[in-house]
Amino acid sequence: MNFDGATIAGFARWGDHVIASHKPRRNEIIAWGPEPGAFNNRGWGSLLALIVMHFTLRKARLEDVPALTALIGESARGLREGYSSDQVEAALGTVLGVDTQLTSDGTYFVAESEGKIVGCGGWSKRNTLFGSDHGPVKNDAWLDPAVDAARIRAFFVHPAWARQGIGSAILQACEEAAAAEGFSRLELAATLPGVLLYQARGFEARERFAAPLPNGKSLPIVRMVKTLPSRPGTRPNASARQRKRVHSRMT
Ligand SMILES: CC(C)(COP(=O)(O)OP(=O)(O)OC[C@H]1O[C@@H](n2cnc3c(N)ncnc32)[C@H](O)[C@@H]1OP(=O)(O)O)[C@@H](O)C(=O)NCCC(=O)NCCS
Repeated sequence: MNFDGATIAGFARWGDHVIASHKPRRNEIIAWGPEPGAFNNRGWGSLLALIVMHFTLRKARLEDVPALTALIGESARGLREGYSSDQVEAALGTVLGVDTQLTSDGTYFVAESEGKIVGCGGWSKRNTLFGSDHGPVKNDAWLDPAVDAARIRAFFVHPAWARQGIGSAILQACEEAAAAEGFSRLELAATLPGVLLYQARGFEARERFAAPLPNGKSLPIVRMVKTLPSRPGTRPNASARQRKRVHSRMT
């Protein structure tokens, strides 16, 4: 959940008590205090547990590009499980890199801690599935939310910040933004290190393919998809309505 620019982890209620639902992680500020109006006439109180994560999210700006390029290099080199270092070096700047179109579209996010960018990732309403400005499959045609899946693009976290929930927080922001623009499905091309994050967030692998690299070799990646839960009060999109009509004609 995003709150005034800070990411606050969830909390759960058990009886009168509010219990943190996340295990504390490095550098977290954990605030415990009585919930307003929590004490009842038997003297039992409940505690409000807020876990304030140590990073904040904001939209990327064009002036972030040099810092993003540096972060992507550090991330891809430091978290390259499944790839050789030759593959990563050849992929940087083409398959792995900044797509400034997302920044211009306002669909790319950065995670910052103490003014330093420690993670990035975004979504897109354009056709390109993966790659930088100089990627092998660049096609900036607009997608139609009624029939197409929004793209999830270019997630990178600094190795020192891995497994701190940054990838998940950015993905959540992307899913919410894509849903708010009427998309009901998401699609992405995951690097091998990325597959585990996306699986944990409900994406399913559809096909494994090889992205061409400038040195003539290739980078194995995995196309993954996810259907977003339907939001209360939203109408099903055209394709869902069409499917429903076909279905009712068949039954
Ligand atoms: C993929 C990446 C963005 C994940 O970012 P992250 O901030 O570390 O991810 P999160 O902390 O939100 O992880 C959420 C969950 O995903 C799964 N996960 C993520 N990385 C994992 C790993 N290396 N091993 C096992 N599970 C992993 C876990 O279930 C994790 O939850 P847990 O830590 O409570 O077990 C990061 O590893 C990265 O930058 N990799 C290098 C660049 C890259 O390949 N990016 C993907 C481009 S498609």
